[in-house]
Amino acid sequence: MINTQNHPDRDKIEVAAGKTAWICRCWQSGKFPYCDGSHRKVNADTGDHVGPIGVTAGKTEA
Ligand code: FES
Repeated sequence: MINTQNHPDRDKIEVAAGKTAWICRCWQSGKFPYCDGSHRKVNADTGDHVGPIGVTAGKTEA
């Protein structure tokens, strides 16, 4: 996959403690850097098998 939507590079996202963020790996999400399900069309159109990665933030010890 390539960044055909010209999304800006992201090297950091905020995830609330204990929550999971689904991060787009197909570069086609309308909510980039978060997955919006657009990868399903990408996979259907290209025969690829890409999907998001879930990142869960742990709780920090005080
Ligand atoms: S929209 Fe890109 S991985 Fe889901």
